[in-house]
Amino acid sequence: MPVYLDHAATTPLSAEALAVMTRELARTGNPSSLHGAGRRARRAVEDARETLATAAGAHPSEVIFTSGGTEADNLAVKGLFWARRDEDPRRTRILCSAVEHHAVMDTVEWLEKHEGANVVWIPVDGEGKVRLEAVKQEIEREPESVALVTVMWANNEVGTIEPVREIVELAKPHGIPVHSDAVQAFGSIPVDFRGSGLAAMSVSGHKLGGPVGVGALFLGRAVKLTPVQHGGGQERDVRSGTLDTPAIAAFAAAAEAVTANLAAEHERLSKLRERLISGVRAAVPDAVLRGASGDGRLPGNAHFTFPGCEGDSLLFLLDLAGVESSTGSACTAGVPRPSHVLLAMGLDEDTARGAQRFTLGHDSTEEDVDVLLKALPEACLRARQAGMAGHESTIQTAATVARQS
Ligand SMILES: Cc1ncc(COP(=O)(O)O)c(C=O)c1O
Repeated sequence: MPVYLDHAATTPLSAEALAVMTRELARTGNPSSLHGAGRRARRAVEDARETLATAAGAHPSEVIFTSGGTEADNLAVKGLFWARRDEDPRRTRILCSAVEHHAVMDTVEWLEKHEGANVVWIPVDGEGKVRLEAVKQEIEREPESVALVTVMWANNEVGTIEPVREIVELAKPHGIPVHSDAVQAFGSIPVDFRGSGLAAMSVSGHKLGGPVGVGALFLGRAVKLTPVQHGGGQERDVRSGTLDTPAIAAFAAAAEAVTANLAAEHERLSKLRERLISGVRAAVPDAVLRGASGDGRLPGNAHFTFPGCEGDSLLFLLDLAGVESSTGSACTAGVPRPSHVLLAMGLDEDTARGAQRFTLGHDSTEEDVDVLLKALPEACLRARQAGMAGHESTIQTAATVARQS
């Protein structure tokens, strides 16, 4: 069995979620139907809503079920932008951190291209933490033109935890809504929607032991949001579409289980992560840990750059050795690109290309870490050779082109 160190991409279904999902899949009933089967399905959805709300420190009426984190992000960012701009046409600026997941980043870029939004990218420091003074400056420069602020709760690549509450404090006096993508944070560190003061917060099922294809947007009751899709008017008329009862029930069961065990699991995973970090440093002395240290990062996240290694080569070599990891960033149409997160943190492109992310989850063990540490030196050596060969062939190609022109 390969060792799975990519829990940030998706983590196995929890036993609790599997049991609930299996039970619900065997039943029928549309939660919007009025007969007995419909009412039973509705009860399952409303129970799940309550459970999920409790797990995230929210009121049940603040839960809008979606098909996952991407949809929740789209709904929050587009919906808040449209509603705020419709109320006051001066509100065209979106303050967005430079390290957002593509689900937010590409959404704000789409709004810029098609809806006249002006996106202000908020810089981060060398650990990937949003610069609060930049948020303050941008808000105070012209508060009446800010439609919304969107900053993730924790970064999916380097695991850095963002100062969400402080950002809300900066926006609050001006009545500016703040959205946070908490897809990586929820289920991993304490997340309290009400306490955060956020207007909207996205979460996803498959990052915490629930099924893929279900998520939620937490949305303050007084917050106005223009829907993205139209239809049956489900979910406060904000997200139309028949509710997926088995997935919703399983998501809530997973969230309940994971939050009940949050403190103990945080401690266990943090220790395991520190063992992994010191092991990697011993195995490959020039590896550089990226992101914050200690409690400033997600307990299950360890992210490194390996000088001279091509991240994808390292990923494939580790995979061959039975270790499943990630470069941390998505490639576009099969073309690996240096991560925008690492570039925003001030890394140059060559250094950013050597990225590798190892993420731990509920079934990760010390033995898993040992398998990685054993495989890493050889995989790194070969990835470096591949990197050098790639570099030389690029130089050769450039030289040939130069000769020919
Ligand atoms: C920070 C963050 N936001 C959004 C998403 C997208 O979530 P989903 O896969 O549920 O659409 C992910 C998943 O990788 C993520 O890590």
